[in-house]
Amino acid sequence: MRNSVGLVGWRGMVGSVLMERMEKENDFSSFNPVFFSTSQIHEEGPTFNGKYYGNLKNAYDIDILKELDIIVTCQGSEYTNKIYYKLRKSGWKGYWIDAASYLRMKKESVIVLDPINLSAIHQAIDNNCKTFIGGNCTVSLMLLSLGGLFSKKLIDWMTVSTYQAASGSGASHMVELLMQMNAVCKGISSDLKNPAKSILKIEKKINKISLSDGFPTNCFHVPLVGNLIPWIDVKTEDGRSKEEWKIQSEANKILLSKKNIPIDGLCVRIGSLRCHSQSFVIKLKKDISLSEIEKILSHHNRWTRLIPNDVDATIKNLTPLSVTGTLFTPVGRVRKLNIGKKYISAFTVGDQLLWGAAEPLRRMLKILVN
Ligand code: HSE
Repeated sequence: MRNSVGLVGWRGMVGSVLMERMEKENDFSSFNPVFFSTSQIHEEGPTFNGKYYGNLKNAYDIDILKELDIIVTCQGSEYTNKIYYKLRKSGWKGYWIDAASYLRMKKESVIVLDPINLSAIHQAIDNNCKTFIGGNCTVSLMLLSLGGLFSKKLIDWMTVSTYQAASGSGASHMVELLMQMNAVCKGISSDLKNPAKSILKIEKKINKISLSDGFPTNCFHVPLVGNLIPWIDVKTEDGRSKEEWKIQSEANKILLSKKNIPIDGLCVRIGSLRCHSQSFVIKLKKDISLSEIEKILSHHNRWTRLIPNDVDATIKNLTPLSVTGTLFTPVGRVRKLNIGKKYISAFTVGDQLLWGAAEPLRRMLKILVN
């Protein structure tokens, strides 16, 4: 019998990307989807692959949720917090697949990234684990693009600087970035028609516009256009941002590390739209040749691409714009650092909404329903 799968939060940004992928891969044919809403209960539901799925059910109704074999939610941590334990307390033994961070580090959950931890996922299913959570976007994208080095246990420690897209903060933040771009462009459009005008005068004007009272900053609190924000999420006790804390904690949970691999660095929001980039300094456990490192990186999984450390290849293929909307997680700028023979650099890019959010969830669902 086909599993009944409840889908919650499927209209938000991550949810929409998930639906797009599921429709493209014809996933809906392998289970019975039931669509939920937290705000538009009983309203018309969606049509996917030409099939209409009826009216929307109440995402807070434990009695309806209890009947499902699997629940997939992109509704966010607040919803998970409200519903998950209530549902478990009601005796529900179904599978819970979640994009939110709320349950990620709990003992009962496995963080899912099957190209990296498929055997751990299978083992967890065999051990009756019922809670599978997608990882933080930078963590998933890092593990995929550097998967070869992790799987061969070559990493002694690493540092990272991230360049995270506006989409990581949510749809409203993306809109705000666009509004900021618009305000700046409007303010200087006449100056751009006059090439004789000093660029320094234009730059001053941009600064004034960006720092003016009416400039749209409700979401980011400060301008992001023409700027960057070296802080993502709240501060933890040791001075890290929560986003920075997640990198080592989640990565080592996914890798089932017996001894934690130290990973630390700074997370930075930049004005790209939906691709996160990351720059790494990696200390390897041994001195191996660059060509061996490149081979290990490029052979690990079918989404990683090794970008040669050349100007042209890098500026064309290792950028947010060239990766956005794809499942590729290219890695480039791989070279030995003059710090020592065991030290290398690497730069990676990945779509924060695909492998960084939606894709691990749909693949986890496939593992359960196939
Ligand atoms: N926390 C990430 C960000 C979103 O702010 O970019 C992906 O989990």
